[in-house]
Amino acid sequence: MITIQLSTQSPYRMEADVLVLLTHHARKQGILRGLDKRLDGHLSDQFQREEFEAKDGQKLSCNTLGKIEAPRLLLVGLGEKDDDMPQFRKAAASSIRAVKNWKPTSLAIAFAQSPKNLGPTIEGLALGAWLASYHFNHYKSGDNHDSPLKDLTLLLPARTSAAVRNDLEATLHRVRILAESIITARDLVNEPPNTLTPTELANRAEEMAAKVGLECDIFGPSELREWGMNLFLAVSVGSVEEPRLIHMRYIPKGRRKRKNAKVLALVGKGVTFDSGGLSIKPTSGMVGMHADMAGAAAVFGAIQAIAQLKPTIEVHCFIGATENMTGAAAYRINDIVKGYNGKFVEIKNTDAEGRLVLADTMAYAANQGVTEIIDVATLTGACLVALGPWTAGLMSNQQSMADNLLEASHSTGESIWQLPLIEELRPTLKSHTADLANVGGRYGGAITAGLFLREFVPEDLHWTHLDIAGPSFADKDLHHISKGGTGFGVTTLVQYTMKQK
Ligand code: BES
Ligand code: ZN
Ligand code: ZN
Repeated sequence: MITIQLSTQSPYRMEADVLVLLTHHARKQGILRGLDKRLDGHLSDQFQREEFEAKDGQKLSCNTLGKIEAPRLLLVGLGEKDDDMPQFRKAAASSIRAVKNWKPTSLAIAFAQSPKNLGPTIEGLALGAWLASYHFNHYKSGDNHDSPLKDLTLLLPARTSAAVRNDLEATLHRVRILAESIITARDLVNEPPNTLTPTELANRAEEMAAKVGLECDIFGPSELREWGMNLFLAVSVGSVEEPRLIHMRYIPKGRRKRKNAKVLALVGKGVTFDSGGLSIKPTSGMVGMHADMAGAAAVFGAIQAIAQLKPTIEVHCFIGATENMTGAAAYRINDIVKGYNGKFVEIKNTDAEGRLVLADTMAYAANQGVTEIIDVATLTGACLVALGPWTAGLMSNQQSMADNLLEASHSTGESIWQLPLIEELRPTLKSHTADLANVGGRYGGAITAGLFLREFVPEDLHWTHLDIAGPSFADKDLHHISKGGTGFGVTTLVQYTMKQK
């Protein structure tokens, strides 16, 4: 990760390969006027020639001809909107991407107008810069693939007090923890399925847990068999790779646990490769199915951050890790399998495997003394069809919990949209021979998946389901989001958790 520091150095005297100046307008005031003077009016000329109006995302670059310390200047428009965290995250990310071809090793970002609220501004800039400079290069040979950018300095207004400066240093520290956790999630998603097996995912969980001080237990096929987690097992038996149930715990220290205290469970779908099983996917649908553990990656990243940010509530993370393959022992269509909570499920499609893994993992989580569950999963193509690739679907059995999660997503800028658990669709999950089937009808696939999951959560337990099939993976870079695994969900889960008491 690049180094980010704060400074009150004058932008004119800042030694950096590129000076980025963020501005809401193109009027010759303050530093814009100072720069124009130093550049002998060259800046005004260029504003006119390139019709630079500082619209949101508009950019203008020029050589500073030795008139200020930095050899290059990049102006980035912020538009007229009020300042908020996502706006600065986008500005920093697009600056990082814009200067890429100049191969700078150092960058400074300054403000043409003092931001109204420095906290969210610094948070946005740092997060945007860290996330936009992420690349998954582990398997690119040669050393030409790393960006040379090493240092970013965020230039604070000269009058910033020592107290404010201290607060901002703390913000930067918190944002770094968050960015690292998002990057952890991206790395897990981007890792190919031949290296990131269920066993490897469990190894990485153990390693991470030891590093940040989480308790961690890993279970394999013998425990799953002993406990009757047969739905989870059914998915795994078609693979030579063993399944793993990963359980990590954050227990707040030094506080006596209140009676009725909230205990949150984050449950992740960790299908490290989804071939579809015997209901095999065509190649075009199978491409990208190494990312079918993005829900697991999101809860993994979230609890990594939570361990360091230390919320007041207790948080558990459960990951059901398995492959969905077509080996000789693979589960079949029409198999009837008894789940951990005692319900019988008729398998009608082996490609609807995520809900089977989650059903048992959530029922198990519910038995570990937790008071609410959030599950995160790349569960259905139908959710992608319904909401598009940038938005997650949310379903819940408790509206105030859903509202809190939606509110968290508004502040982090992750796009999440609630879908209704329509009761009229419940009969489509009926089976002739078992308690229920693992797929519903042709329509409303994201919702029937949600209705299926609901059957495995005790009714009195608050539960919210996030279907991240779309936003967990990006086909192209967009602002702070980079192509490939996005780490979607980490920041909203962390934000939600930090607000709980
Ligand atoms: N992992 C897929 C869902 C998915 C699709 C995630 C595209 C990301 C991108 C899931 O296991 C699956 O195959 N779901 C089926 C369900 C169907 C058989 C009811 C689907 O969406 O087609
Ligand atoms: Zn599937
Ligand atoms: Zn899947």
